[in-house]
Amino acid sequence: MISLSLSEIRDLTGGEVHGTQSPETVVIDGTVTTDSRECGPGSLYVARVGETADGHDFVAAAVEAGAVAALTSRPVDGVPCVVVDDVQTAFGRVARGVVDRAPELRIVGVTGSSGKTSVKDLLAAVLSSVAETVAPVNSLNGEIGVPLTVCRVTPTTRFLVAEMGARGIGHIDYLTRIAPPQVAIVLNVGTAHIGEFGSRENIARAKSELPRAVPAEGLSILNADDDLVAAMAAGLASRVQLVGLAPQADVRAEDVHLDERGRAAYTLVCPQGTARVTLQQSGAHHVGNSLAVAAAALELGLSLDQVVAGLVAAEPASRWRMEITDRPDGVVVVNDAYNANPHSMRAALDAVAAMHVAGERWAVLGGMLELGPDSDVEHAGVGSYAASLGFDHVVAVGEGARPLADAFPGSEWVPDTDAAHDLLAPRLRAGDVVLLKSSRDSGLRWLGERLAAEGGDVAATPVAPTSREGARP
Ligand SMILES: Nc1ncnc2c1ncn2[C@@H]1O[C@H](COP(=O)(O)OP(=O)(O)OP(=O)(O)O)[C@@H](O)[C@H]1O
Ligand SMILES: [Mg+2]
Repeated sequence: MISLSLSEIRDLTGGEVHGTQSPETVVIDGTVTTDSRECGPGSLYVARVGETADGHDFVAAAVEAGAVAALTSRPVDGVPCVVVDDVQTAFGRVARGVVDRAPELRIVGVTGSSGKTSVKDLLAAVLSSVAETVAPVNSLNGEIGVPLTVCRVTPTTRFLVAEMGARGIGHIDYLTRIAPPQVAIVLNVGTAHIGEFGSRENIARAKSELPRAVPAEGLSILNADDDLVAAMAAGLASRVQLVGLAPQADVRAEDVHLDERGRAAYTLVCPQGTARVTLQQSGAHHVGNSLAVAAAALELGLSLDQVVAGLVAAEPASRWRMEITDRPDGVVVVNDAYNANPHSMRAALDAVAAMHVAGERWAVLGGMLELGPDSDVEHAGVGSYAASLGFDHVVAVGEGARPLADAFPGSEWVPDTDAAHDLLAPRLRAGDVVLLKSSRDSGLRWLGERLAAEGGDVAATPVAPTSREGARP
């Protein structure tokens, strides 16, 4: 945290101080958080009123844990506070105050329908190999997640990676005013949350708010392989670099090969030179993700050698994204059930189709949520796609996935994850690979964990970082 006094917080937010006569002596130099359990000495506790809980009820707990002040929408006894009309807006202004007090900080914004967290993790891994870097915990990418991340910046932080998600027009624009990017990455325009946006064009408009926020001296990194993203180049103030497989891309991949686990190796071609890159993440979609990372890191002054070393060394960081577990009995579980939309479903199916499999390929697929009126068609499209890739079995889980089952000849449909487990457990054999993929709320990630822990005496579950959700696409 960059220290702020309570009087500075008052000035940043336009709020009123309560509970102290001398706000300039109350100094916040600890964690800034909306969770009272995360407070410690010097913390600022941000009291949100959420759908299920009122943060004001936890002010006492925050103080107990060490918080020295609170940002609230009403005065609370027993703690110095700044009282504001709208806590969320005020929190954004505090975060912007932090950015303005860190003149050396370089901010990279990352958006897209799929792959934001994957790119955020990879970029943070590469950048932190050369300088202090702050990046979101998990997938914190919204109006609370971005300020939470920004407030972790310290006086010695050089780079901030900000994941930015949108559920509507104007959302990313708002986030860029909190964390103004010098570098923007736009990965893709899919159909995630198309129900809320209405059309892919509207999704593209929402995502284009990120490169539009980059100043003339900054850089927008756009996916050359996605028409709607590449088209964002027109009319931008910033410089533009295209990344992808397309020959016109400024930073591109040639000679892409996938190993037996679907991990890519490719030749990185960029203005700084060429180099061979091998990735530890499974799935060809990580080629494009890593090209965007390379372009951003090179723009921020890393050498090609540093970039390549960082990419090669980076291990998969966030959970339930192509998380591979080798069971003692020889079954391989691929848990990619963090979330799903038609685009990332195909990417996951492609990745497993590329793996070398001695036994049979299973795809256990649940519903993709928030697809609006096209939902049935999109599910059916994924079923046909799995069939075209030659999967041996599809198990469709839950009502939403019925059209998917209908589109895959010989598929099996089960109502829930327990039924899916009962079907799979006795039938998986050594050499089989089983992919789990669904939207977050369809819960297949837990089925994946259960399956991963079975198949022998030795527990094969991977290490779990702490989880806090709150993502939007
Ligand atoms: N470039 C890509 N294209 C398609 N799918 C991808 C891409 N990168 C990652 N994925 C897949 O998409 C899913 C979500 O990945 P990730 O969490 O990185 O995306 P996100 O954009 O942060 O998602 P969210 O909107 O839920 O925060 C994962 O299953 C991952 O394997
Ligand atoms: Mg994310």
